[in-house]
Amino acid sequence: MNFEFSEEQAMIRTAARTFAMQECLPGVIGRDEKQAFPKAQMESLARLGFLGMMVDPAYGGAGMDTVSYMLAMEEISKIDASVSVIMSVNNSLVCQALQKYGTTIQKEIFLKPLAQGSKNEELYTGAFLLSEPEAGSDASAQRTIAENEGDYYLLNGVKNWITSGNSASVYVVFAQSDFSKGSSGISAFIVPRNTPGIAVGAKENKMGIRASDTHSVSFNNVIVPKQNRLGAAGSGFTIAMQVLAAGRIGIAAQALGIAEGAYELSLKYAQSRIAFGKPIAQYQAIQFKLADMCTRIEAARMLCLKAAYEKDSGQDYSLSSSMAKVFASETAMWVTTEAVQIHGGYGYVKEYHVERLMRDAKVTQIYEGTSEVQRMVICRAALKSTI
Ligand code: CAA
Repeated sequence: MNFEFSEEQAMIRTAARTFAMQECLPGVIGRDEKQAFPKAQMESLARLGFLGMMVDPAYGGAGMDTVSYMLAMEEISKIDASVSVIMSVNNSLVCQALQKYGTTIQKEIFLKPLAQGSKNEELYTGAFLLSEPEAGSDASAQRTIAENEGDYYLLNGVKNWITSGNSASVYVVFAQSDFSKGSSGISAFIVPRNTPGIAVGAKENKMGIRASDTHSVSFNNVIVPKQNRLGAAGSGFTIAMQVLAAGRIGIAAQALGIAEGAYELSLKYAQSRIAFGKPIAQYQAIQFKLADMCTRIEAARMLCLKAAYEKDSGQDYSLSSSMAKVFASETAMWVTTEAVQIHGGYGYVKEYHVERLMRDAKVTQIYEGTSEVQRMVICRAALKSTI
């Protein structure tokens, strides 16, 4: 067993840390307040090769491993989880789906610019359209229809809670193409954002990750050529589940970064804040909080690394990714709440960052599968292993 990072992994972590400090920290409070999309930050991420980190270099990616991706997600999330969620959806949901299931032509047309994060010098990212008003945790209850019209499919329906719903250039859309087959009737499609018949709803006014753009997207007789179907007809649910298993490692790393960001701020604050004649870090009430914060963070880090390692070494990582996601996101919620408590009144105002980190932490328990969904996945695997 080896707990050391490789030289390349350590370099990626340093590059991500530098990017976060130099380009995300300035203006992070204002972007959150105004819900301003972090376009300049995304363009920098594209230049760094961080939008297609695990994509084969033959398709414009950086060809890095999942551990490196996890480290980059962690560092950027310490400072700005709005930037990291856009990065995560592009890397682990959209690029991974195309890399694993796309045809050579689909990869040439769509994966290359997605991995490079740009096309014709414009930002080019993707969105993952699975959730619907009545198909959130119950993802197989898809109501969006894809009617097979021979050379093309006709898409009708509504998707919601779509990260990058407006800013993305291309969507991976899931739709039911045969209701009689249940989840085996769902297919996946690659649909450019500017296809006629697509309407993007108003930006959601969110509690956290406010700078990322979240929208509903509706499809009204949208024509999708057959060559834009991703994978075989009826394989959409399997694609969604496999891609989400990988995506959950990214969100676990995001939650880990949010927790670490709040912990680091708390550690500093506790050493400088004087109460009753000495720094509050000298009181056991605060020391026990800090000790529990860093212990839980370390446990979350181990689970994230285990899931990333399993993925990189070709093992089944769906159980580990759910464990990492549920534990890291609940750690993030707990640590950020304690961070606000340690900061007292200062923790309740925006300048000290921890209130934003607390709001950002909440969604990690919800998106890419709620904590309850992760526990379903974990328990199903546990029950299976006893048979
Ligand atoms: N890999 C491959 N196949 C899988 C799989 C996996 N990890 N998990 C399930 N499947 C297959 C099953 O084997 C089964 O196949 P058969 O019918 O051939 O046996 C089929 O899929 C159906 O599986 P289940 O019966 O387990 O499905 P279910 O309806 O009980 O649902 C669930 C399981 C885990 C709850 C799933 O619906 C789920 O993950 N829900 C949460 C959805 C989610 O994470 N949404 C996130 C939206 S994207 C997002 O949030 C992005 C963002 O903004 C940041």
